[in-house]
Parts: sequence; C-alpha cells; structure tokens
Amino acid sequence: MEPMRLNENAIKGKRVLVRVDFNVPLKKGKIESVDRIQETLPTVQWLTDRGCKVILASHLGRPKDAPDPEFRMDPVAIELSELIKKPVKKLDDCIGPEVETVVTQMKPGDIVLLENTRFHPEEKANDPVFSKAMARLADVFVFEAFGTAHRADASTKGVQAFLPSYLGLLVERELTAIDKILKSNEHPLVVILGGAKLADKVETIEYMNGVADKVLIGGAMGFPILRARGIKIGKSYCEEESVKLATGMKIDLTKVILPVDYLVAESNDAKSGQNVPFDKIPEAAMGLDIGEKTLESFLAVLKTAKRVIWNGPMGLFENPAFSKGTKEIAKAVSAAKLSLIGGGDTVSAINQLAPGAKFTHISTGGGALLTMLSGKPLVALTK
Ligand code: 3PG
Repeated sequence: MEPMRLNENAIKGKRVLVRVDFNVPLKKGKIESVDRIQETLPTVQWLTDRGCKVILASHLGRPKDAPDPEFRMDPVAIELSELIKKPVKKLDDCIGPEVETVVTQMKPGDIVLLENTRFHPEEKANDPVFSKAMARLADVFVFEAFGTAHRADASTKGVQAFLPSYLGLLVERELTAIDKILKSNEHPLVVILGGAKLADKVETIEYMNGVADKVLIGGAMGFPILRARGIKIGKSYCEEESVKLATGMKIDLTKVILPVDYLVAESNDAKSGQNVPFDKIPEAAMGLDIGEKTLESFLAVLKTAKRVIWNGPMGLFENPAFSKGTKEIAKAVSAAKLSLIGGGDTVSAINQLAPGAKFTHISTGGGALLTMLSGKPLVALTK
C-alpha cells in the first residue's frame, strides 16, 4: 500500500513511528549540517501538537550491520532536542522488549529517538520479522525520510505492511516541489552534475541526456570518461569501476558537455592551481576544479537556462584555491527562473560559498533525488 496523506483524525493522540532521514554529515562525532533535522521539525511539531507520542527512527552512516559507537544517534538526539526545545529521549536499540517498555510509558507530546536502524542486518535485508518488531512500537507509521525513499529497507518500506502509513510533511513538500520543476515546460532545461563518483550518476546522465537540453559535467566525474577514451588524467580522482561504466555509457556529446580544461595541482591542500587543457594534465597533478574556459562556457549555457537542476560540486570547493568553479556556478544557478539543488555536498557548498543565494527548491535528498532524476520510482513510496 502507498502511504496516505497525514490526517488529523486518524493520528490524534496515537503512538506514531516516524521514519526520518537523520543521516547527517558527521566529523569527529560532531554534526556538520543540521538541515535534515531542521526540515523534519514541522512534522514532529504537528504530531506533538496533536497529542501524539512520537517515536523517531533513522539510519546514520553505513555501519557494518552491528552496533558501532561512531554511528550512534546520541548527537542527533541532543541537536533535535535543542532545535525543538523539548526533551528527546534517546534509546539504545530500535526494537526489543526494553524499547517496547519505554514506548508504552510515553505520554502525549513525548518524543523518543530510537538507535540507528542499521545496527541490525535485518534493516537492509528488509526482513519482515524486523519490520514487524518495529511496527509493534506504534499504532501508525509516518514516512518522513525523503532522503531514504529510494531504499526498500525494513524501516522504510517493510514496516508499511504492518501499520496504517502516512506521508510526512517534508516528503509531501519535496515531492510537490520536485515534481513541479520536473514537469514544467520551461526550456532550456540545464542539468549540472558534479561530485566525485560517476557510478552514482550514470543513470541520471543517461536519462537526462534524453530529457534536458544540456547536461554539464563537472567535478571528478569527467575523469573516468576521459580515461575510458584513453586520455591520461595524472593523479586525478578516478575509480576503476567508473571507468568500466563510462566505457558503456550511451550519451550524446553534443548535449552532454564535458570540461575542456581543469585547474590542477599536485595535492589537495595546494595554495593555487595551474589551468591546463583536459588532455594535458601532468602526470604528477590532479584536476581539482573546472578550468577557466569550461567555466566560461558553462556560464554561457546557464545564462539562457530557464530551469536548472544541480547535483554535485564542480571541484574541491572546501579549498578556497579550487572553489571558484562551484561558487560561480552557484550564483548562475540561483539566477534561473526555476532551480533545484540536491546532494549533501552541493548544499554544503552553497551554504559556504553563496550563503545569500536563493533557489526554488533545495532538496534534503541526494540519492533519492538522483533516482527521481533517472526517471525511476522511489521504492519506499510505491506498492
Ligand atoms: C542519503 O544520505 O542519501 C540517504 O540517507 C541514504 O543513505 P545510503 O546511501 O547510505 O542508503
């Protein structure tokens, strides 16, 4: 069954299991961006205002199917409690008798956060016994994890077989905003794809090759494509798996535009770079930003764009010496009539490099948005 729209009468005063996506970026145990937590606050507030007992569940990172101190939900509970200005009780597991005891004692308006669902291998296996154990905690289920909607896991999809299921407000907001941009007739539609891993975006490139007017490729994604054509890329980031994928990729190079030059240096922490053509990257150097000619041509394409979709930075934007490409692209994207941004790194990049810039929609989804941009359904939201 597909989840239904949130409905006050069906939910009032109930115990509600809410699957959120609190898979936030962490560095040495500290949360680097609270955006994903912040975006779920309206739903949590809506539920507590209606006397619900709110049981939040999420994964965090990719632990190896067992409890891992690095991926415990404790910092998330602290952050959520500060943001929502209410106590949030963090539990040490997400299923089992102890968790059941705590949730049966909850009072209207109480909030608990379960431990990382991925500490159990049954989560990724979408094991129905595990889904049922989670479902036992609540009367109804709310799916609020837009960022994980492309994963058919026990706590995203499986659990829906055991509880009446509703869409969270964030998921509704995301689907409406993304659909509006994808279904708009405004052209030219320009899609910009960057970041490190070509493997994550091959299907999006191929699908958008048929849908968009232009697809601009930046970041390290161009390197496997160059390697697949026998071009030397020095020490530039490139995964072997991606070279194989690039070899089989079906794209029209009049529509999919690759960088013609790169800003290169010998290390990630270099203070400056050298601008070289794409086929003249020195053996000891690596491409760390798109080059000047590439930036100029990308900006020219963006100038006429009516709709722009952007996922993935143009280079190593964290180092100011290699942030220019990403910064200038961010400014140009914000000037388009309709703009859609997604992916954790892209959102961090715009927060850092173009803090005041306005975009039509900034999605909390990375992989989930790419799935939609590949023309595929979000499995947690389908039958
Ligand atoms: C994301 O950050 O894209 C989601 O939380 C899904 O995480 P995953 O790629 O580890 O499944």
